[in-house]
Amino acid sequence: MNTSVNEVKNQITNAATQAELIQKVDDYIEAQSKLDLLRFITCGSVDDGKSTLIGRMLYEAQMIFEDQVTSLRSDSKRMGTQGGDIDFALLVDGLAAEREQGITIDVAYRFFNTDRRKFIVADTPGHEQYTRNMVTGASNADVAVILVDASQGVLSQTRRHSFVVSLLGIKHVVLAVNKMDLVGFKQSVFDELVASYEAFAEKLEFETITAIPLSALKGDNVIERSKNTGWYRGPTLLGYLETVEVRQAQLDHAFRFPVQWVNRPNADFRGFSGTVVAGTAARGDSIRVLPSGEMAHIKDIVLYQDNLQQCVADQAVTITLDREIDISRGDVIVAADAPCEVSDQFEVTLVWMAAEEGFIGRSYWLKIGTQRVKASITDIKFKYDVNTLEQMSTKSLALNEVGRVTMHLDTPIPFEAYRDCHGMGAFVLIDRYSHATVSAGTIAFALRRASNVHTQALTIDKAARAEMNGHKGKVLWLTGLSGSGKSTIANATEQVLFQRGVHTYILDGDNVRQGLNQDLGFTEADRVENIRRVAEVAKLMVDAGLVVITAFISPFRSERDMARSLFDEGDFIEVFVDTPLATAEARDPKGLYKKARRGELPHFTGIDSPYEAPQNPEATLNTATLTLEECVVAMDKLI
Ligand code: ADX
Repeated sequence: MNTSVNEVKNQITNAATQAELIQKVDDYIEAQSKLDLLRFITCGSVDDGKSTLIGRMLYEAQMIFEDQVTSLRSDSKRMGTQGGDIDFALLVDGLAAEREQGITIDVAYRFFNTDRRKFIVADTPGHEQYTRNMVTGASNADVAVILVDASQGVLSQTRRHSFVVSLLGIKHVVLAVNKMDLVGFKQSVFDELVASYEAFAEKLEFETITAIPLSALKGDNVIERSKNTGWYRGPTLLGYLETVEVRQAQLDHAFRFPVQWVNRPNADFRGFSGTVVAGTAARGDSIRVLPSGEMAHIKDIVLYQDNLQQCVADQAVTITLDREIDISRGDVIVAADAPCEVSDQFEVTLVWMAAEEGFIGRSYWLKIGTQRVKASITDIKFKYDVNTLEQMSTKSLALNEVGRVTMHLDTPIPFEAYRDCHGMGAFVLIDRYSHATVSAGTIAFALRRASNVHTQALTIDKAARAEMNGHKGKVLWLTGLSGSGKSTIANATEQVLFQRGVHTYILDGDNVRQGLNQDLGFTEADRVENIRRVAEVAKLMVDAGLVVITAFISPFRSERDMARSLFDEGDFIEVFVDTPLATAEARDPKGLYKKARRGELPHFTGIDSPYEAPQNPEATLNTATLTLEECVVAMDKLI
């Protein structure tokens, strides 16, 4: 039934003439290029026979080259798991390490085709600690094949896989009920399993669930209809995958085109290049550019050397417009009569993908479409127990955890709910220092309440207050280990300034933690929030015209930089009170190091919680070598 590579190879070898051969190759390439592409993900664990199923499909679609079959046969004999038969799992579990451990550890992409469609299958590991791999593999998939073992029924991992699949907005699910041979191909077993799955999946909002009784090992209903399941009327697995309709919604959607780059090879040509994420557009169509809202008409749609009449979803093209408007990378060209919203506050779902936890208040890069903006989590509403879907409260998100959070962006972006348009509502968060991707997210909706909060213009401003005070407001931000001397330096400096008539205030860790921040402890999440609040208070005080001296360990670079970003250039002065740990520990003014060493004070900075020294502070004061007076003189010079 398939035009397999091997068949083509044979035809080519047997071609009588050179011309016939070229024709055959051309026909093949032409036919291939017209096939549409289906991306699907398979979910299940080793025991469900997932790799066997994919291996069987590749084999029967004859997309394995002969040399691969040979090595497979010998491997199958050597590993001996299928008694001399070919072990298809060996084909898919390509990595040597996986074979030895007997588990699949990464996302493996396989390509194959039949004469009706091309396929990319993402094979992802099933264990809970690989949720992030599953998210990676599933992020582009149109269909998910969820494997269950007929002899085991719906397990908690089936629920977890289904939940992640639903989070990623995959609308079509195949419940592949495998190992039907183990239960005698009984319809009652199949029906019961399907009923229990459907009851669970109701809340996951899939558009279709297609249950298929299978034996991947024996080949029943994988490609050929099985004689063992006479009671089953539905499609075979491959039959389903060849015909399921998945693209129409994306094509019917309003036009969305995030601009990737402004293409300006010479003064005569100015085009906007990118990939259409949804809908279609034709020459002459009226468009709007977001966020600016400016309107124009499409003049030309260019693909390499050709001028197209129209462009469709997934196509990479360059668009020119009939009038000059200011457009830059990250802007989105949309249908004029169906624009999307623009906002900077969202409720989103995050899957945390990094070993380093995610916290409220920490700033990340958010990459959505072709746009990159700064963003932070403003609240974690809850995290999910991914096996039961229960909601649990938390202050941070750890590796593989899934949470519902609110986020604030520093720039408004055009967007859509992920549910409505994947390309306009999916994003990743990137660590601003390591550049690692720490999370994948999907937008649920914009928080309109927040975007209705406007800044009030007030008549008396910072400049007026500075004039009245006779000096500008500033913050001297002291950072360093506990016992390094921050409070002592702050106190002595304030006395000198005070005597000179400077309006000052000290925000000190120990004091603020008895009032405003009495609800916070010393976990990473609490320290991040501690510094966020202190930075905001310091900003108000600087605005009020005060010289503020803060004395907080503030151990994380990320939050100190966040604090800096709140102030005007020159108003934030970072002072590193640089004292070796040994010196601070020897001083131990509050006896806390001793306690920490005895294990009675967990998360103590320098002992079992990190301190990230500043890289470019405005000043460094080494209190092991400088006297207090020298430190105060140095501080005074900074104002
Ligand atoms: S910060 O890390 O969040 O910036 P902050 O400066 O507010 O810390 O508070 C530090 C002070 O709290 C220390 O000087 C010490 O007196 C006290 N403290 C109590 N427990 C700890 C701890 N586990 N780690 C550091 N300081 C602690």
